[in-house]
Amino acid sequence: MTAALWTAYEAAAATGGALCARGGDPDRWIAEEWAARGLSIDSRTLKPGDMFVALKDARDGHDFVAAAFEKGAAAALVARAPEDAPDGKPLLVVRDTLEGLRDLARAARLRNFGKRVAVTGSAGKTSAKEMLRVALGAAGRAHAAEKSFNNHWGVPLTLAQLPMNADYGVFEIGMNHAGEITPLTRLVRPHAAIVTTVGPAHLEFFGSVEKIAEAKAEIFLGLAPGGVAIIPADNEHCALLRRRAEKAGAARIVSFGARDGADLRLLDYAEESDGARIEAQVFGEDVAFRLGAPGRHQAMNALAVLAAVRAVGAPLVPAMEALARFAPSEGRGARREIALSGGRRITLIDESYNANPASMAAALALLGAAKPRGRGRRIAVLGEMLELGPDAPKLHAQLADALAAAKVDRLYAAGALMRHLWEAAPAAMRGRWSEKADDVLAALRADLADGDVVMVKGSNASKISLVARALESEEARPKAANE
Ligand SMILES: Nc1ncnc2c1ncn2[C@@H]1O[C@H](COP(=O)(O)OP(=O)(O)OP(=O)(O)O)[C@@H](O)[C@H]1O
Ligand SMILES: [Mg+2]
Repeated sequence: MTAALWTAYEAAAATGGALCARGGDPDRWIAEEWAARGLSIDSRTLKPGDMFVALKDARDGHDFVAAAFEKGAAAALVARAPEDAPDGKPLLVVRDTLEGLRDLARAARLRNFGKRVAVTGSAGKTSAKEMLRVALGAAGRAHAAEKSFNNHWGVPLTLAQLPMNADYGVFEIGMNHAGEITPLTRLVRPHAAIVTTVGPAHLEFFGSVEKIAEAKAEIFLGLAPGGVAIIPADNEHCALLRRRAEKAGAARIVSFGARDGADLRLLDYAEESDGARIEAQVFGEDVAFRLGAPGRHQAMNALAVLAAVRAVGAPLVPAMEALARFAPSEGRGARREIALSGGRRITLIDESYNANPASMAAALALLGAAKPRGRGRRIAVLGEMLELGPDAPKLHAQLADALAAAKVDRLYAAGALMRHLWEAAPAAMRGRWSEKADDVLAALRADLADGDVVMVKGSNASKISLVARALESEEARPKAANE
């Protein structure tokens, strides 16, 4: 049994909320202490013993308090007692539940004596977060969210779950608009803050990539005294990030990249089937290690991670060794060999989780580095990159250079915006364009040949991930029939 994360009285003291329950005899049960082992904002995934936090988002969490108790919630953090809250079940009533969650987060931070790392960037946040989990986990107890919880409720939720005795806390911080990172980083107060990269993501809300860099640099505003800013040396906005870090009072600024003068410098990168060998100079010392994910962009994320490891005083060698065990999460570069009908064996590079120009270029480079077997080809299956504003058509068309650089043999593309890339691509490369991912899948299926390497990528909403899912299930089908 896991130790209590929040006892009734600690949670009440942190939030200033009232401990109560519907019905029953309040005098009697208030004396009965409860303790929560974790926190949950979703009654569907709540684990017995969790405290349910009734947030208002797309739906009002107060409508699910009863369901949460049915799933075994230890208590519920609410702004009012819902009509259907079961009698006698412990409630912690606060004025505003999101504010209450932030209060818990602040209290969790104050009672923990570990070090905290925060990560933002236009791509690579979750990858870096997962690398930090394994790298710091080699030195002590590391806490990080299971998912990409990086927004106005995700960050406080992750911090409010920081165990008292954790040695390290890792926090992914995202944003769609200027000003969103500031309150989150001030809540976390990181000892090390990473900007992985800056590129055109959510461009429609910003107007220029420079403004995006400004917004990412907000992460430095929350640095704890003595905190270290970690910035991408090769990025065109590196100088801006450095200036912002200085202005924010960073005690040290550490850069990572391939260029001369980077504090952590990539010297050599050799791709292997399920990872890469990396040689780097880390603060003047030559090191070599294996990373459990291919892609030069992942190697860069790893260097940023090692900078943070050093910044929080964790040992480097076990961290480097642990990075061999890092595995890309679903849709972020995971590879699979798939046996299709007709004896065709293909490799699927699943990048379908999301896309913007920075991550699209990285994924195409990954495809370029892959070596198809025999007469196999490099096939890019691309869905639209969304939220790019008026420049969207141009940003799509511009990928033609990355397609050529990656020696892509065939392009399959879905969605109106991808039409711009389709038209910019050489005729010999064109496999199929369609408004819909389904049509693209049908054409692709017929075309696939033994040895092909297929990389699938697009924004979440482009639905291009269905191509990856369909190819995976293709293999599963004959097996299921035999069983
Ligand atoms: N440093 C990087 N530079 C460019 N692209 C990257 C980098 N790291 C990862 N990527 C690409 O971005 C994709 C998403 O990676 P990841 O989930 O780590 O990013 P994220 O910043 O957490 O995204 P989100 O904003 O959706 O939470 C990966 O599949 C990969 O293609
Ligand atoms: Mg993420």
